[in-house]
Amino acid sequence: MPGDHAQHGTAGPDDLAVVNRATGRAWSVLGRLTGGRSDIVQLLGHGRARAVLKIKHGAWWAAQLERAAELVDALRAAGYPTPPVLGFGPLGGDRFYLATEFVPGVQPAGLDAGLARDVLAAVDLHSAVRPPEIRDWSTMITEFLNGGIAEHRFHPRLASLADRALALVPRPVPALPSGDFVHGDFTTRNLLARGPRLSAVVDVEGFGRGTRTIDLVSLLASVASGSGPIADLVLERAVAASDEQTVRACLAHRALALLLTAAESPKGVDAVADQVGGVLAMVT
Ligand SMILES: Nc1ncnc2c1ncn2[C@@H]1O[C@H](COP(=O)(O)OP(=O)(O)OP(=O)(O)O)[C@@H](O)[C@H]1O
Ligand SMILES: [Mg+2]
Repeated sequence: MPGDHAQHGTAGPDDLAVVNRATGRAWSVLGRLTGGRSDIVQLLGHGRARAVLKIKHGAWWAAQLERAAELVDALRAAGYPTPPVLGFGPLGGDRFYLATEFVPGVQPAGLDAGLARDVLAAVDLHSAVRPPEIRDWSTMITEFLNGGIAEHRFHPRLASLADRALALVPRPVPALPSGDFVHGDFTTRNLLARGPRLSAVVDVEGFGRGTRTIDLVSLLASVASGSGPIADLVLERAVAASDEQTVRACLAHRALALLLTAAESPKGVDAVADQVGGVLAMVT
């Protein structure tokens, strides 16, 4: 029943018909891809061809997916390893789809030296790509830090970490640089690796603009153990992409955002506390 599919977010026959028309192929659903946290992500197959179908909810995606398709073209023209868009558009109601080419690879458990080199090179590749002004991550970060976060009552186990994060920045936090492409969820969860090499950066459709430091700090937070040459290298690049003040603001934001989600985190409060402690140890 199409209604059933819509309810569970998966692609039903009507949805596939739309995708097939747009992409000129007779795809069928082969299964669900693991790793997706908020979206339904399905693997499509037609003969030996493979594609990835994501279904997004909310009217906002209509224009954002259009911008994302243009941006992916610009990123790929710059040599950035993100899968090409095969199609996108409305499925009816508030549902929209994005179909991309499937790229083989696995989510890396962390960053070793070779993968770090590839990822940092990828971030350099998009330095000339200038996304539209809409959805500015730099503004979102200063608004977050200058909003009510200083008054938020954190879990008692996390309160001192929140204080340390807030102490990294002046109040009010001044505007951060902007204009770069910002992925917005640049963590190892959205990387694919084949052996020691980066094969793709996925999940780019929530992109905005801002400073590349935002993504580098987010990457750092996803792998931070508080020390080590790879973390140091990523931090060095984060500073080089803007300046120390901006890195501190991005670190404060990332740490506080992680602390806010700790209560619901599948990892549990202690694991989040360890992660944030590692991130803060990089600069304090
Ligand atoms: N083009 C692709 N080729 C190969 N694998 C992919 C591709 N796109 C996504 N994947 C796999 O599916 C997983 C989920 O996809 P994605 O990260 O785009 O969705 P998500 O994490 O649910 O999105 P959101 O950030 O909205 O929660 C990825 O982590 C990756 O393992
Ligand atoms: Mg993802």
